[in-house]
Amino acid sequence: MKERQKKSKPQIAFLGAGNMAEAIIKGLISAELYTPETLLASDTSENRLNKLRETYKIETTHSNPEAVRKAKCVILGVKPHVTGAVLAEIRSELGEKLLISVAAGVPLIRLAAGLEREAQIIRAMPNAPSKVLTGATVLAPGKGVDEDHLKRALSIFNAIGKTWVLEESLLDAVTGLSGSGPAFAFMMIEALADGGVKEGLPRKIALALAAQTVLGSAKMVLETGEHPAQLKDFVASPGGTTISGIHHLEDANCRSAFMGAVSAAAKRSRELGEK
Ligand SMILES: NC(=O)c1ccc[n+]([C@@H]2O[C@H](COP(=O)([O-])OP(=O)(O)OC[C@H]3O[C@@H](n4cnc5c(N)ncnc54)[C@H](OP(=O)(O)O)[C@@H]3O)[C@@H](O)[C@H]2O)c1
Repeated sequence: MKERQKKSKPQIAFLGAGNMAEAIIKGLISAELYTPETLLASDTSENRLNKLRETYKIETTHSNPEAVRKAKCVILGVKPHVTGAVLAEIRSELGEKLLISVAAGVPLIRLAAGLEREAQIIRAMPNAPSKVLTGATVLAPGKGVDEDHLKRALSIFNAIGKTWVLEESLLDAVTGLSGSGPAFAFMMIEALADGGVKEGLPRKIALALAAQTVLGSAKMVLETGEHPAQLKDFVASPGGTTISGIHHLEDANCRSAFMGAVSAAAKRSRELGEK
């Protein structure tokens, strides 16, 4: 049994126990990094708390300050517009404890301004596939975050996927790529499946084939370390079917469309952060 499992006191408090908090809770418990009794969630919704108690057997409360008081590290998982109110509630309880905010677009400076003193804050940008433990998260540590706290944050987000540490100034670009990217990939899967249906495949099979094809292709990029252009060349034999399809994608400006989508999402992220 791992050392951390033996601890029985609450280690992490989740303020806001919605989709993202649940993904992290699920990851931490299934990776056996934390036992249920070391996790604690607070939320305004009784339904959410019931679900987390029943599914993960963790402690729950309606009181954000109580959750912060009991735990060693706090994950702020409410919607961005609620962060100010929650920080005001917990400011006198947080002390030296690590605060990790997953609230999209809320900058470190605004989080720090809501607290009483120089706090240890890490801004995290996870993405939707964290729900199936295949997320991509980028952490931006605030000034004064020590190595132990950063290690703790890395271990938390590594339990729900892969994690990188970058400067906060790059988080809008991250939001445009890995934050919004799952929606772009879902559209690609849907469109590939539609193509299959157009060519006569049953819808269910077409969707499964499209999703498995995208999953396998992503795995090849990650596991072989080959450049995607190299892998594409490998699949496209001279005069074959694939190069005909590639020609069609190039005619449709497919690469430019994907690049533009990431830039548009990053631009919107910058605009929202300025509000
Ligand atoms: N989901 C994603 O894929 C994703 C990806 C990256 C970042 N994020 C960020 O993660 C955060 C949470 O997103 P989510 O999708 O998990 O949202 P969510 O499912 O709506 O979860 C937020 C939870 O917080 C509760 N809440 C509202 N006010 C509260 C308060 N004052 N104190 C405690 N809890 C309160 C909400 O209850 P009610 O529903 O009753 O209001 C809800 O259960 C957001 O800031 C989002 O930007 C999410």
